[in-house]
Amino acid sequence: MSKKQLADALLRPFGLELRRRTDHEEKPWDHTFRRGIRDEEKGGDPNDAVSDAWGKPEWAKYIVPHLRDNMTICEIGPGVGRWTKHVIDKSKKLYLVDYSKVVCDYWRAKGDPRIEVIQSLNTRLPQIPEGSIDLFMSFDVFVHMDIEIVYGYLEEAFRILKPSGIALIDYLSLDDDVSARWFIKDLNKQDTYGSPDEVKRSIFRVHHKETVQVLAEAIGFSFSNVRDTWHVHNICTLTKP
Ligand SMILES: C[S@@+](CC[C@H](N)C(=O)[O-])C[C@H]1O[C@@H](n2cnc3c(N)ncnc32)[C@H](O)[C@@H]1O
Repeated sequence: MSKKQLADALLRPFGLELRRRTDHEEKPWDHTFRRGIRDEEKGGDPNDAVSDAWGKPEWAKYIVPHLRDNMTICEIGPGVGRWTKHVIDKSKKLYLVDYSKVVCDYWRAKGDPRIEVIQSLNTRLPQIPEGSIDLFMSFDVFVHMDIEIVYGYLEEAFRILKPSGIALIDYLSLDDDVSARWFIKDLNKQDTYGSPDEVKRSIFRVHHKETVQVLAEAIGFSFSNVRDTWHVHNICTLTKP
């Protein structure tokens, strides 16, 4: 039983239920990042709170082989830097794109001259010149995106990447019994954030490997894919010719 289910069971006799506070600026992961930022202020690692909340996938192995000195890198959805920390010292310029004000304020406060923070309203990145990026990356972010947003960011990735530049992205593909079982289990443990009469929604968005592949190829990328062992995530490498 989740904490929400337990709280709801206790509150039900009084006709009450637990609802997460919603305000239009608050993004779903901000409370975890705030915990990490508080830990960092006390000398800790801001990503300990992230790992406690979401687990510890081993995805640096997909990033590190692509790194060399003086790169121009764009990361979508850095949070408090779980993957950023692997690329920051290899970057002469690092664009960090996030729709969360908490995340953007966190990176701006560092005052690192290599970092340009972009608080995104949509998937367009006019601040980043065409053909200027060596590596476009995003981990644990596209797994939460509707397909239109996936497409929008991939189209923009193609525009800003240099020829031979690559995009590394993880996503969820619902395409066999293992991924179906994972999806059903996760759906069952999600809070509804609303009334018990509402359709239960997952915070994850699952697509299909072929869907991501045909979209990426329609944009112009070549596509290769690895099924990671961690919670049925797929990691794709998209190469701009
Ligand atoms: C689950 S967190 C992952 C953070 C970080 N990549 C990590 O693995 O620790 C998702 C991140 O993506 C950001 N995000 C989600 N949807 C986004 C969107 N449409 N545009 C930009 N950022 C987004 C969130 O604010 C958050 O920083």
